[in-house]
Amino acid sequence: MASTISFSTANVQLIRVGNDHSYVGLRPISPQSCVSFVRRAKAKSSMVIRASNEQETSVKTSGRTIEECEAAAVAGNFPDPPPLCRPSGPEGTPLVKPLLLPRRPRRNRKSPALRASFQETNLSPANLVLPLFIHEGEEDVPIGAMPGCFRLGWRHGLLDEVYKAQDVGVKSFVLFPKIPDALKSQTGYEAFNDNGLVPRAIRLLKDKYPDIAIYTDVALDPYSSDGHDGIVREDGVIMNDETVHQLCKQAVSQARAGADVVSPSDMMDGRVGAIRAALDAEGFHDVSIMSYTAKYASAFYGPFREALDSNPRFGDKKTYQMDPANYREALVEAETDEVEGADILLVKPALPYLDIVRLLRDNSSLPIAAYQVSGEYASIKASAVFKMIDEEKAMMESLLCIRRAGANIILSYFARQAAGVLCGMRFK
Ligand code: PBG
Repeated sequence: MASTISFSTANVQLIRVGNDHSYVGLRPISPQSCVSFVRRAKAKSSMVIRASNEQETSVKTSGRTIEECEAAAVAGNFPDPPPLCRPSGPEGTPLVKPLLLPRRPRRNRKSPALRASFQETNLSPANLVLPLFIHEGEEDVPIGAMPGCFRLGWRHGLLDEVYKAQDVGVKSFVLFPKIPDALKSQTGYEAFNDNGLVPRAIRLLKDKYPDIAIYTDVALDPYSSDGHDGIVREDGVIMNDETVHQLCKQAVSQARAGADVVSPSDMMDGRVGAIRAALDAEGFHDVSIMSYTAKYASAFYGPFREALDSNPRFGDKKTYQMDPANYREALVEAETDEVEGADILLVKPALPYLDIVRLLRDNSSLPIAAYQVSGEYASIKASAVFKMIDEEKAMMESLLCIRRAGANIILSYFARQAAGVLCGMRFK
């Protein structure tokens, strides 16, 4: 509760300290008078002293209705001006000469109204893209390492989840399929089966919700028996150009099903240009490409790979995903993606790579996306379970910070929960 206290000049005295008797402020004449202030303040209050934004923001007024206020004003009874008074600190507070500061940045933070006016970055549900895991089953299966996330049955749970997300303003979705082992192969050909899980889900969603934006993931890993994003040669090398050939077929198949944005996440060289050409050749000039421009070889993808059972069967992804130590290399990727016709540049993961988000933002005119990945999500969820942090505040802060770094859109498993908070809903 904000303390609501009114003061009048009759009960205060001027305090002067220092050799030059410089003015410090006003304080109550005596503790008794202070008590009587508070008492009277409860009846008639006009001034709010608030220590932090954690306190209630509603200011107590005289309690009169607008009509009563108007009538009083018309009758010539105006409220007193706010009293010139500085409430005293606790006993033992030193009396000091005010610092001579021409600039006091705290002035612009002193009330919720002013803070809201000067807020530089905003977050809206329109900035959020919700990644969804789907599978062939009918049930929604919880994902152990990602509390609150499920492998959704594509015919039921998926439609339900999209409905709920739309309801709080999230209109963009990206689909990730859990493919049965029997359909996985070394060349990942299930990736371009027009009747595969992803194309079917896209068609269903587009039929039910024509206004949503559907993003797809273009990479072979969910379809690869090796768990890699590309075709693996017998000596373990990931084959670039042959993989790109498959990715083009995958992207076209997704476009044919109705995808709005195809998103190559494989990090093969030349895939954006090749996919653009393949889409155009099939008449899909309007299908956009969101390129995973700067995708780092990150430990933060762990829970995702569990969700899709897509862990590499051997080795790691360091010959195609970027080294977390590298900054300037992101510019090389951004330049090639731009030239090849990418519509959106994506950075992944997000929070540990905000410098890369800012780098691309400052060096490209294209929209920038950031992917708050599974490990980032799981970290916040897990520490909240142990009551180490406040989940909702950490969630909103992390998303706002990703926006501040320069991301237009954020792919996040928090998308629905965060949009709910923005709509004033509470999940707890
Ligand atoms: C695969 C892909 C991955 C993610 C998105 N697409 C995993 C990987 O590259 O191994 C990770 C997303 C997440 O961790 O939330 N192409």
